[in-house]
Amino acid sequence: MDKPTIPAHRHLMADYRQTYQRSITDPETFWREAAAGVDWHVPPTRILDDSEAPIFRWFPGAELNTCHNAVDRHVAAGRGDQPALIHDSPVTGVIRSYTYRDLRDEVALFAGALRGLGVARGDRVVIYMAMVPETVIAMLACARLGAVHSVVFGGFGARELAARIDDAQPKVIVATSCGIEGRRVVAYQPMLDAALAAAAHVPDRRVILQRPELPAEPLGERDLTWAEAVAGAEPAECVPVLATDPLYILHTSGTTGRPKGVVRDNGGHAVALRWSMENIFDVRPGEVFWAASDVGWVVGHSYIVYAPLLAGATTVLYEGKPVGTPDAAAFWRVAARHRVVSLFTAPTAVRAIRKEDPEGKHLPGYDLSALRLLFLAGERLDPQTYRWAGELLGVPVIDNWWQTETGWPIAASPRGLQELPTRPGSPSVPMPGYRVRVVDESGNDLPPGEEGAIVIGLPLPPGCLPTLWQDDERYVRSYLSAYQGNYLTGDGGRFDEDGYLYVLGRTDDVINVAGHRLSTGAMEEVLAAHPAVAECAVIGVHDAVKGQAPRAFVVLTAGADGAGLEAELIARVREQIGPVAALRRVDVVAALPKTRSGKILRGRMRGMADGAETPVPSTIEDPAVLEALRPLLG
Ligand code: COA
Ligand code: AMP
Repeated sequence: MDKPTIPAHRHLMADYRQTYQRSITDPETFWREAAAGVDWHVPPTRILDDSEAPIFRWFPGAELNTCHNAVDRHVAAGRGDQPALIHDSPVTGVIRSYTYRDLRDEVALFAGALRGLGVARGDRVVIYMAMVPETVIAMLACARLGAVHSVVFGGFGARELAARIDDAQPKVIVATSCGIEGRRVVAYQPMLDAALAAAAHVPDRRVILQRPELPAEPLGERDLTWAEAVAGAEPAECVPVLATDPLYILHTSGTTGRPKGVVRDNGGHAVALRWSMENIFDVRPGEVFWAASDVGWVVGHSYIVYAPLLAGATTVLYEGKPVGTPDAAAFWRVAARHRVVSLFTAPTAVRAIRKEDPEGKHLPGYDLSALRLLFLAGERLDPQTYRWAGELLGVPVIDNWWQTETGWPIAASPRGLQELPTRPGSPSVPMPGYRVRVVDESGNDLPPGEEGAIVIGLPLPPGCLPTLWQDDERYVRSYLSAYQGNYLTGDGGRFDEDGYLYVLGRTDDVINVAGHRLSTGAMEEVLAAHPAVAECAVIGVHDAVKGQAPRAFVVLTAGADGAGLEAELIARVREQIGPVAALRRVDVVAALPKTRSGKILRGRMRGMADGAETPVPSTIEDPAVLEALRPLLG
């Protein structure tokens, strides 16, 4: 049941304010107390190590095991019979529940199988799998051994997968034989083969989970099936690791084609996620939480897998779409059937449902009386979607803003702490530990109402990336060098008079398509490699459902023939980056607008397409080139 709504009045923010202030003025005490929510093998004595600043480490010297905290701990505490994981898969017609005891046994067995393949503490395992329970089991099995997982989203193609394999250098790759996209069965093995052919690194073994919808055949010499891997395996116990040891690597798109390997540690991650589950998401042990995302993204890592399990809740793993599997009632059916108390998804998913069922005619058939809150993140939440969802469901809609890098919300309305009133267009207020600032180009704080770059004062709180995988230098260069002493989020925005943050979009060339973070630079690299392309630019333009959609503009090499080129380039991007890139349109143009120093004016092109035109810069080389694009962009 929803709790009574507190009217919008500032003094009611006291609980949040006090908590936030304490986290900023005395972070060590704040996080020491939060650390009590986690089982430690060696409890933390020191809280923050700042000896290598600007690289900070939380809970140095302490030891724990994340899998123990997410699984075994609850069995030991008497929750063994409680459902831990519910797989609801409309695309295969399967609904299956695992208790905490089941999950512990399956994870221990697969951990034993991995150990049998030579995987030990610190080794990497790449996981390229669909939304099946074995994916969660494989992740937790790595955590159990102190191995480091690197999950690659199934919608990525060979080039992206190869880049991640070469960066993570896995001992073993675990894959599903196929994924199921609506009615389309996607074979994973050809993608994996192509990625391994392109990658320099050669993993020792591949474990393939054969799905009946499309088994992988024939298997290669280095391959064994999941069933073969676990046959005869001995269950493995949890291996204690340092709080500062890596739990996983999750690659994310940057401005260049080379993805960034965001590192998550064990200790800070467990402490922060546990804290967030109760204080932000307001979920208690035994309650059902559903993040309708994909385990390949950070939302999936944090809020399908780790946070609900760390908190002793039940998590739903949904293999389907908001629409089309089979219809726009899918979310309501799942939420009703499993008595979901909090649903977390991306605004895009809500827009997709609204497009098919604008009046919410599907809803009355379902009992959503357990549902208390709807959380939305992954892209900007437009006020129209915020209002539509809130009115339809009759529960508060909580916009929350964060990134792969931070692993948990930077800004939100912390529902477990206090029922702060929300405001359309704003993900509310900074969460504990995040010193959020809006600054001008010189790094000076801007007054409320003025837009600037959003940065976060160091140190970032526990759970955020300590560095990039084996690349401290790139971490410092990419995030910490633009504004000394601050982390650059890459987003722009402003505060209002009451301290509510408004996040207005990326200030770099990262785009967000259907809640998926993509690099225009990576797409440009694929296009530029085509012999007929002399120059190109990819920009993200407004899309009513997906938020943004990529559009490409190419200039031909002298004498090249543009016939059939659009289809060819779209196919190349789909094959190499993956279907998720969703590039649907490529225009051949005579020239690209540039500054006199040769920089392509992508921001200006985007503004023209979205009807938010900014003044033409005085440094433009030839204004006529920009104007020539107007009919294509307008
Ligand atoms: N494996 C293989 N292919 C995948 C994939 C996966 N895991 N995920 C997406 N794709 C494919 C899709 O099938 C689609 O292929 P198509 O071009 O043949 O149609 C393509 O990638 C683009 O996918 P998407 O942009 O997701 O579009 P869509 O039309 O399939 O679905 C939505 C649109 C809005 C329903 C869907 O994007 C959605 O549910 N979004 C929510 C996003 C989300 O959960 N984000 C995580 C952050 S919270
Ligand atoms: P990802 O790393 O894939 O989670 O993408 C992070 C990016 O998504 C952020 O840098 C923002 O640009 C965008 N984003 C995520 N959540 C929000 C939100 N609630 N409001 C606005 N933008 C968001």
